[in-house]
Amino acid sequence: MVKHYSRFADISISEKILNTVFLLTIGLGYLTALANLYYTYQGRDGVAGLSVNDIVAMYHGSNSQTRLGAAINGIMEANLKYKSDKEVILKWVYEGAEEDAYKEKIAPILNRDCILCHTPSINASLPDLTNYAGVAEVAHSDGKPIPALIRVSHIHLFGIAFILFFVGKIFILCHMNVYVKRIAVVIPFVAMLLDVLSWFITKSIPEFAYVVVGCGALMGFSMGMQIVVSIYQMWFYKQKDKAITD
Ligand code: HEC
Repeated sequence: MVKHYSRFADISISEKILNTVFLLTIGLGYLTALANLYYTYQGRDGVAGLSVNDIVAMYHGSNSQTRLGAAINGIMEANLKYKSDKEVILKWVYEGAEEDAYKEKIAPILNRDCILCHTPSINASLPDLTNYAGVAEVAHSDGKPIPALIRVSHIHLFGIAFILFFVGKIFILCHMNVYVKRIAVVIPFVAMLLDVLSWFITKSIPEFAYVVVGCGALMGFSMGMQIVVSIYQMWFYKQKDKAITD
């Protein structure tokens, strides 16, 4: 027995209208998400604009994104006796905040300009800058903590799976090579899963930020293609052969 599968030619105009407004809204939502991404992540690495380094800073952490770096670039700068010491401290933070260099160059500055306030016996609530362990705590950055990553991951997986499912449900009404179609519906899901997985890997291996960007782009592109092809076929495509068996 030959089964008949429906295509856009089989659905009503009202269904096409519903599909179209849904797809357009999702497309707009995606563009808004990109804009949000830009404003959330740009400048994380200390340089204006969005780059892979922002993603590294976000997930892996970056030496220029530390509490000490931020403080010395901000209100704590005024406490420095010599302005040139700011660069010395920032350079040390950027180079990994090692203990040997701390003893040699950093401790003298902090002992002179900072510990009058940053001593536990004076201000227990302020970072302790009297020893390496205390300073190291504010001089290193670990990126997004695991619980925060897990929270964002579960929201992403649930939310985006729904979107991809409905977009895919509409897309499978397209008339095209079935093998292309079978692969096309899987790609955005795989891209999303790899994307989320690479957030966690980027925490330890910064180079994976490229995989985060690549997979995110692939998900957006493949979903975008499904939307464009679906809308095109719904309204402009004339199906020639009638019997659809795949
Ligand atoms: C006059 C007292 C005083 C001196 C001197 C001082 N600080 Fe602070 N520092 C503070 C106070 C108060 C805060 C808390 C400010 C806040 O939370 O808004 C603070 C906060 C900080 C923080 C934590 C910021 C955060 O992320 O919460 C760092 C790091 C820091 N100071 C570094 C320094 C360094 C480096 C120096 C020396 C160049 C210095 N401070 C000198 C009073 C001082």
